[in-house]
Amino acid sequence: MACVVVVGSQWGDEGKGKVVDLLAERADIVARFQGGNNAGHTVVFSGQTYILHLIPSGIFHQGKLAVLGNGVVVDPEALIEEIDGLAKLGVEVGDNFKVSDEANLIMPYHKAMDRLRESLKGEGKIGTTGRGIGPAYEDKMARSGVRVSDLRRKDERAFCDRLKSIVEEKNVLMRSHFKSDAVFDVSEIFDRYAALYERIAPHLCDTSLLLNQAIDAGQSVLFEGAQGTLLDVDHGTYPFVTSSSTVAGGACTGCGVGPTKITGVLGIVKAYTTRVGEGPLPTELRDDPVGAILQERGQEIGATTGRVRRCGWFDAVVVRESARLNGMSGLAITKLDVLDSLETVKIAVAYRDPEGNEVASLPHHVGTLAELTPIYEELPGWQSSTRGLRDYGRLPAAAQAYLERIAELTGVPLVLVSTGPSREETIVLEELF
Ligand code: IMP
Repeated sequence: MACVVVVGSQWGDEGKGKVVDLLAERADIVARFQGGNNAGHTVVFSGQTYILHLIPSGIFHQGKLAVLGNGVVVDPEALIEEIDGLAKLGVEVGDNFKVSDEANLIMPYHKAMDRLRESLKGEGKIGTTGRGIGPAYEDKMARSGVRVSDLRRKDERAFCDRLKSIVEEKNVLMRSHFKSDAVFDVSEIFDRYAALYERIAPHLCDTSLLLNQAIDAGQSVLFEGAQGTLLDVDHGTYPFVTSSSTVAGGACTGCGVGPTKITGVLGIVKAYTTRVGEGPLPTELRDDPVGAILQERGQEIGATTGRVRRCGWFDAVVVRESARLNGMSGLAITKLDVLDSLETVKIAVAYRDPEGNEVASLPHHVGTLAELTPIYEELPGWQSSTRGLRDYGRLPAAAQAYLERIAELTGVPLVLVSTGPSREETIVLEELF
C-alpha cells in the first residue's frame, strides 16, 4: 500500500498532469485535494492531447477511481462541461468518478467578483485565472459558502433561505463596492444549480470515508495537487498566490485523510522555472533570448487562460524551500529536453541582497524578495537531443551532471525524469508504488 502526494514545487505548470497520469497506472485511486478549474493539466497519450481542469487524470485509466476531495472548489458548469467533453472522446465518467459532498461550489457571483476585483486593482492585480477561486474560498472560510450537498432537494427550503441572505449581501457589494449593475437573482441561481446538481448527484459521496476505507483495505492512493508550492496561500509569494493550501499537508485536510497515512511526497519540478500571472520570479529571463527559447521550445502558454508564461533559470533556493515545506521524498524533473540546445545552463544557488550579503533561503516578504538578485552557478550544456530518452544512462554526461546538481542542491533524490510530453517519454529511476 502506498499513499503518495504529488505536488508542484515551483509556481505551478510543472507537468503534474503527465506524472500523475503515468503513476495512476500503478495506483488504485487518484484524488484531487485543492484548487478548482483554475488548474489545467495537460495529458498526452496515443497521440492525443487532453486538458483537464477539474477531474483527476486517473480518469483515463480503466479500473481506477478518480476523486474530487472536500478541499476542491467545484464550478458545476465547468465540471459538467468536462464530463461531457470526456464522453465525446470516448472516456467514460460514471462510477469511476466520485465528488465529495462537502466540497464548496463556485457560484456565479464568485466569478463576477474575481474579475471585477482584478480590474479594480489595476497595476496591483494578482493576475488570477478569473474562475472565481479566491471568492469561493473566502466564502468557505467566512461560512457563507455553498456546499454541493446543500443542493439536495429535501433541503430546498432551508437552502433557499440561506442563499437569499448570501445573495442579498453580494448584490449590495456589487452595487456599492464594485459599481456594477449586475444583480444576482436567487431563484435563477437556484434553478440553474438544481439542474446541474441532478447531473453531479450520482457521483457524490463521503469521499473521506471512501478513501480511508480503501487505504485500510490496502489500496494505493495518489493525491494530486494543483498549482504549485510558491502559490500556496500560507507559504507562497503572498499576496501573489492562489487561495488554497497547495503544499502536501493540504492533501490531508483536502481529502479528510490523516497524516500518518501518507507514505511519500513527490515534488514535480520543471528543469527551469515558469510563472503565469503577477508576482516575483527572481530568475526571470525577461527580454533575454534564452527566456524566449524556453518559452518557445517549452510551449509555455497557460493551459487554462492561454496566457504566455514568464520563464527563467532553475532556482534551487525555491525548490529547497519547497522540499522543506512539503517534506519531499522524491523529485521528478520535467521538460529536460527544452534545455537541449543551450550552450550553458544556469542554476540559482542563493541570492544577494542590496548590501551584498548572501541569502540562502527564500524571504517571506515579496518586497524583500524583489530586492534580491540570484547568484548563479553555470554548468555546461549538452547540445544534443534528450527528447524521448527512457534510459538514464543514455542521457549526455552534461545533462546527468545538471540533474544530479539539482538533486544535490535541493537535498531530494531524483526518482523520475520527463523527456517529452507523452507517457512513454520518461525515465523512471525509482518505482513509487
Ligand atoms: P487564482 O487561482 O485564479 O486565484 O489565481 C491566483 C494566481 O495563481 C495567479 O497568479 C494565477 O496565474 C495562478 N494560478 C492559478 N492556477 C494556476 C495553475 O494551474 N498554474 C499556474 N498558475 C496558476
